[in-house]
Amino acid sequence: MAATVTVEVARYRPERDAEPVFQQYEVPVRHEWVVLDALTHVKDEIDGSVAFRWSCRMGVCGSCGMMVNGQPTLTCASYLTDHLPGPIRIEPLRHFPVIRDLVVDLASFLRKLRRVKPWIVRDDGPVEPEGEYRQTPEELERYHQFSQCINCLLCYSACPIVGLEPDFTGPAAIALAQRYNLDSRDRGARERLEALSGDHGIWDCTFVGECTEVCPKNVDPAGAIQQYKLASALDTLRSFVLPWGK
Ligand code: SF4
Ligand code: FES
Repeated sequence: MAATVTVEVARYRPERDAEPVFQQYEVPVRHEWVVLDALTHVKDEIDGSVAFRWSCRMGVCGSCGMMVNGQPTLTCASYLTDHLPGPIRIEPLRHFPVIRDLVVDLASFLRKLRRVKPWIVRDDGPVEPEGEYRQTPEELERYHQFSQCINCLLCYSACPIVGLEPDFTGPAAIALAQRYNLDSRDRGARERLEALSGDHGIWDCTFVGECTEVCPKNVDPAGAIQQYKLASALDTLRSFVLPWGK
């Protein structure tokens, strides 16, 4: 195994760079290191000015997503040895504005999330005397897969539609909408369906499926979007058959 590998890090310092440039660093190769460890080594030992996000280092917080050799990657879950002999090119997540180096601006995603109301919608107050909405294990299982999203946004970087149509609500937000629709405690499915059947919603998706391919948590956002399209089509059909009330 090589003793070192070259990492090429995209640098963008708005106060001095008109556009991103690549800077090379030589880092040790350790069997147990992930790509994030290589970046941490650069920052701690070589160049403290490199900016990137991370927090948990265990695939939970979703903050360390970057492009690694052109692929959206959770850098704390990708072994350095899987990218040998290098060089390993590390860039910020595609389809987001860059704030600095590898740090992207997530404001557009937060706006999109609000569109789908990713919370339990109720207007009738607590239904149980104890003030709890109870749920069986079977009811939990219905939405469990979609609740595994860590908002890493790899799916937005993988989606060609997000690249062409930046206002597309996008895979993770739609998967989260479906997570709440399938929750027995929720009553917000109609509001979400109306929001997602219009502009920048589910019909922007052409079912490329890359979002599901890159998801590190097996969420299957492409599947959620197809479920939504079916629900929207049935809803439209129902409005013709039962025009006095859906
Ligand atoms: S759906 Fe998957 S890829 Fe997309 S943000 Fe959630 S965890 Fe990340
Ligand atoms: S650092 Fe938290 S998911 Fe990678």
